[in-house]
Amino acid sequence: MTTVDLPLLPLGRGVDLTSERGVECPGDLPPASDPALVERARAAKEALGDRVFVLGHHYQRDEVIQFADVTGDSFKLSRDAAGRPGAEYIVFCGVHFMAESADILTGSHQKVVLPDLAAGCSMADMAVLSQVEDAWDALAEAGVQEAVVPVTYMNSSADIKAFCGRNGGIVCTSSNADTALEWAFDQKAHLDGGGKVLFFPDQHLGRNTAVLKMGLTLDDCVVWDPHQPNGGLTTQQLADATMILWKGHCSVHGRFTPEVVDKLRATIPGIQILVHPECTHEVVLKADLVGSTEFIIKTIEAAPAGSSWAIGTELNLVKRLANDHPDKNIVFLEKNVCYCSTMNRIDLPHLVWALESLVKGVVVNQIDVDDDTERDALVALQRMLDLPGKSHRD
Ligand code: 13P
Ligand code: SF4
Repeated sequence: MTTVDLPLLPLGRGVDLTSERGVECPGDLPPASDPALVERARAAKEALGDRVFVLGHHYQRDEVIQFADVTGDSFKLSRDAAGRPGAEYIVFCGVHFMAESADILTGSHQKVVLPDLAAGCSMADMAVLSQVEDAWDALAEAGVQEAVVPVTYMNSSADIKAFCGRNGGIVCTSSNADTALEWAFDQKAHLDGGGKVLFFPDQHLGRNTAVLKMGLTLDDCVVWDPHQPNGGLTTQQLADATMILWKGHCSVHGRFTPEVVDKLRATIPGIQILVHPECTHEVVLKADLVGSTEFIIKTIEAAPAGSSWAIGTELNLVKRLANDHPDKNIVFLEKNVCYCSTMNRIDLPHLVWALESLVKGVVVNQIDVDDDTERDALVALQRMLDLPGKSHRD
């Protein structure tokens, strides 16, 4: 298996501004070819000193990660931002929903900046508030809403998190989805027949957690398709289901296949397959280990020298792990290039532009969640932060 090392596109100039929402980036970005970019980023950061705190998600490019004060998964980064009340500016090198969560969890005196507003998440965009509200109404009409707890993955917009806050629900991450589901079912344990969970936007994380960690079966799960009348389900199917999974997925993790797992096992003796729970159930079933981004990193750190691993998650992280652990044989679980295109929109020109603007006293691309949404979303986020036992890093 080969990993193709392609240069990443310098996005932000000349892109089709109408192709995605929130794309406008009116700044005069320095050209990606400018050899002084690294020095300019360093100088701007130094000029800002403790006034700025730069967060870097694990899926970011190396050219950006080198300027991060802290790296982590989406949940850890939000917590880290909240732990820096002294920083006037939080520059979030990640995607939109993460910057929103950081804004919700940080003080009102702090400003969160996303260097390119086009850095969204196609999975988060698969659940829109109006669709979720329609589904909620349909569950009421089917007579099951009272038994349902809404659970949203961190990879969702702030207004979806607020919906969960308003309706007795919770946020989860890939590290704590099982604990969050336990909490959700506990809320309805007093009902005859127990409760149900409406899980969005990622059907795979919901299914993998329900079946592999909660002891439910595939027959306990149904898929709600927001583009079909009544989600494409009958009232009886809704009544019988325990997990109602939103028809959403990650376009990156959805590309890994069981066939590549089989091929790698046949060609690399002793190889272990390590995947993120956003992969399909078929891939997860064939894997040796499944876990969040932080889990994947810790597993590789703890692995013995000489061990072989195929990793099914975003390519920037896999490449970084391979570079950082030359004593281990680390390959990518796909034959094709598999970057998250929206994560990669944060490039050095955008970072330099954001930092240099802050030096001039201009806050560009601020992510500012409105007060009502923030209040309700914080309810659902706080329920997650209060979950017993495992922390997001376990
Ligand atoms: P983490 O929760 O591990 O940060 O993952 C976010 C994500 O976008 C995974 O695709
Ligand atoms: Fe969204 Fe998938 Fe990219 Fe993560 S990897 S930000 S879930 S599109």
